[in-house]
Amino acid sequence: MTDTILIFDTTLRDGEQSPGCSMNLEEKLQVAAQLETMGVDIIEAGFAIASPGDFEAVSEVARQCKTATVASLARAATPDIERAWAAVCHAVRPRIHTFIATSPLHMRVKLNKTPEEVLAAIQQSVSLAANLCPDVEWSAEDATRTDPDFLVRAVEIAIRCGARTINLPDTVGYATPETYGAMFRDVINRVPNADLAIFSTHCHNDLGLAVANTLSAVVNGARQVESTINGIGERAGNAAIEEIAMAIKVRHDVLPVRTNIVSTEITRASRLISGITGFQVQPNKAIVGANAFAHESGIHQDGMIKDAQTYEIMTPESVGLTHSNLVMGKHSGRAAFRQKLEELGYNLGDNAFQDAFGRFKLLADAKKAVYDEDIVALVDDEVLRGHDAIKVKEVEIYCGSNGPQRAILTLEVDGEDKTVTSRGNGPVDALFNAIRMIVPHDSSVMERYEVHAVTGGTDAQAEVSVLLAENGRTTRGRGAHHDTMVASARAYVNALNKMMVKRGRSAVDAVAS
Ligand code: KIV
Ligand code: ZN
Repeated sequence: MTDTILIFDTTLRDGEQSPGCSMNLEEKLQVAAQLETMGVDIIEAGFAIASPGDFEAVSEVARQCKTATVASLARAATPDIERAWAAVCHAVRPRIHTFIATSPLHMRVKLNKTPEEVLAAIQQSVSLAANLCPDVEWSAEDATRTDPDFLVRAVEIAIRCGARTINLPDTVGYATPETYGAMFRDVINRVPNADLAIFSTHCHNDLGLAVANTLSAVVNGARQVESTINGIGERAGNAAIEEIAMAIKVRHDVLPVRTNIVSTEITRASRLISGITGFQVQPNKAIVGANAFAHESGIHQDGMIKDAQTYEIMTPESVGLTHSNLVMGKHSGRAAFRQKLEELGYNLGDNAFQDAFGRFKLLADAKKAVYDEDIVALVDDEVLRGHDAIKVKEVEIYCGSNGPQRAILTLEVDGEDKTVTSRGNGPVDALFNAIRMIVPHDSSVMERYEVHAVTGGTDAQAEVSVLLAENGRTTRGRGAHHDTMVASARAYVNALNKMMVKRGRSAVDAVAS
């Protein structure tokens, strides 16, 4: 058995289909490019039949990828499989990933099929897929609640009909490491043609066991793992790629396998996904959380200075951070700030650097410790705004229990200041009403407004994300500031700027006279 574990990324399918994680075409292509750079072997680009947008995204990812296999999901139905093939057929390495549920509950309640009918559907769907595409994966949805004898029969048929990857998902996150590993051992031992296929894991995190279950399956013979960046996905999410890849890398002594993941690209991938989806990574998240390499306690800092291995089992560099997270503060000067930016992968021109440094100083005055996450949020915010035709100049809010809440807002629109005063049902509403007064945009609605604290503490920076929808197209805007209201204004105005670029209109056209 090979010692290479193939990494199958489903960020663009299982991740993207979870609530609030949708991405547009441009964002999906950016993610696919980063996944390839990171060494992902198979990219599941979407569910081609789900919508014309999904089809286009899968097709474009298929055209763009040079090294990775590109897969589309398909149910066990002819139209699904044909649509999946139409989307991936341009890929250098296309794959059709077809699935059907095999647990008694799913077969009865969801599919309304007898077990024999499900076996017939496997035969028919996998044969059709194998006729179209040289690389077919078959998944037994809800495998972990499937009768083991039935699972063995189903897998044997799928392989006989041409599937060369067999995925046994823990669809509902029900398994434990022991039971999940045992299922793989059992199926691989009992299916007579098992040697013709690669066995794959696909774990959901409902009990927080997705990564542990994945690794247990690897120990028991799985050679492909399905996972997502930052563990995004249905409900509690999927197994996180970064955790699996680093567990395999760091614990090679007990997991004598390898992956093709370029681990130094992990941080970049993580930031890309959280930036695009607005789903922030919790600070204490393994590998990619803001605190994963931060050492605050005196004893730990002392140990780290003497020898980093005292408190670090892997280096920050190995996941793409160039240094441990030495916390910056108000005494940090230009040189330290520049060095920090370089470590974080930013190379700002002089003007952008001065602006960012000015904002860093304001932030450091407002907040005890400035973490890497703060600096990333701050610089991204600055960079985002570089070409904005509309900019937030000043925000004043009157709020509290004795309303009405009011906002006085000044926006700079193509170089000219415009100030209005407005009221609203709460400070955010008042602020957003003010924006609508200066930049009327009745044809669009705000679908989502989210506030996230970049780090812990009441002095944390706020990162705000808004989603505007217009004529079926959504536009996401982001803003960060230590004042939540300023961050909110920046996010909304950022979305408006992007929406106007999509419309091809100038800012001035859109502004109320
Ligand atoms: O969780 C699951 O079972 C799935 C399959 C469609 C592979 O996502
Ligand atoms: Zn899934």
